Amino acid sequence: MKAIVCEEFGPIETLAFKDVEDPQPGKGEVCVKILATGVNYPDGLLVQGLYQVQPERPFVPGFEFCGEVETLGEGVKHLKPGQRVICSSPGYGGFAEKAVINARMAMPVMDEVSNIDAANIMCAHGTAHHALKQRARLKSGETLVVLGAAGGTGLAAVQIGKAMGAKVIAVCSSEDKLALAKANGADELINYSQQDLKAEIKTLTDGKGADVVYDPVGGDAFDACSRAMARNGRLLVVGFASGRIPELPVNLALVKEYSVIGVFWGSFATHEPMPFIQNMQELFGWYREGKVRLETDEVFPLSRTGEALTRVLNRQVKGKLVVVPDALLGS
Ligand SMILES: NC(=O)c1ccc[n+]([C@@H]2O[C@H](COP(=O)([O-])OP(=O)(O)OC[C@H]3O[C@@H](n4cnc5c(N)ncnc54)[C@H](OP(=O)(O)O)[C@@H]3O)[C@@H](O)[C@H]2O)c1
Repeated sequence: MKAIVCEEFGPIETLAFKDVEDPQPGKGEVCVKILATGVNYPDGLLVQGLYQVQPERPFVPGFEFCGEVETLGEGVKHLKPGQRVICSSPGYGGFAEKAVINARMAMPVMDEVSNIDAANIMCAHGTAHHALKQRARLKSGETLVVLGAAGGTGLAAVQIGKAMGAKVIAVCSSEDKLALAKANGADELINYSQQDLKAEIKTLTDGKGADVVYDPVGGDAFDACSRAMARNGRLLVVGFASGRIPELPVNLALVKEYSVIGVFWGSFATHEPMPFIQNMQELFGWYREGKVRLETDEVFPLSRTGEALTRVLNRQVKGKLVVVPDALLGS
């Protein structure tokens, strides 16, 4: 089969598109024919050796995908060949024509969800959902500030924040990104490449500050938000797309009695399987109701996965990118 292979950690350009052996399912595993693979910022970090998990090399990257069960390993009874499933797994393997996964990680997907949507619904929306529900305990009527609000997890946080009844302030670096956040339900907009983020949050909250901040960006934006929190606020640490892990003068948390809360969706999925499944059911319910949707910026052939990863890392994507095996795209 064809696959993207990371032979050694390094720049995206060093990824190889090549023929590799078809993977064979072992006990408790299934082999899935991949139909579409979501592209996530952590994929780009992983292949450079910059992610918190460092797999043995060589490996096939690709965290999440939608596929069709092809063959069952020994002991797998709850799935059948031909069934469409989604999977987001720390086992990687999604940038390929086939992948072998632990059968327990394969989640059957409803017919009304397209392959393209299904490939991208777990990681970004799952992260935003877990962050706002279990970590921030966001309440209806609260003010939610979302940084990087046209990115993968950011746009998901805008939609889910609205579904949970919050007033959403979207923060982006350009007018076209802000327009996308607005089209997805944002109530107020801040362009942090032109406006003073701290002052704007204060103005839009009548001086009170944000009840919840969803931060996948870090750096200067985190610093500004750490000075614009409401009393009893929750500042969610989701990621550091800006490239700088910020530091916090903790007196700020003391004075406003606010909390800084870490979010790690992969750990939640592993350690709390029942709440994880309940979250996915709620997410698909919102999808059915049209409260949650996937914004796909572009679909790339598998052979051009490197270009897709570069666009994500270079801040050039609105919503999400998807990769599809070349053979399924026609020419
Ligand atoms: N904690 C978890 O469980 C979890 C799960 C998934 C992802 N993450 C992390 O969350 C972060 C964002 O992931 P994502 O999927 O939302 O990524 P994304 O789709 O690329 O969006 C990130 C956003 O960050 C903003 N940004 C600011 N400075 C940037 C820079 N120097 N380079 C790139 N983007 C920059 C961009 O928005 P503007 O241009 O509008 O500023 C961009 O849209 C990553 O660090 C990722 O590793 C964490």
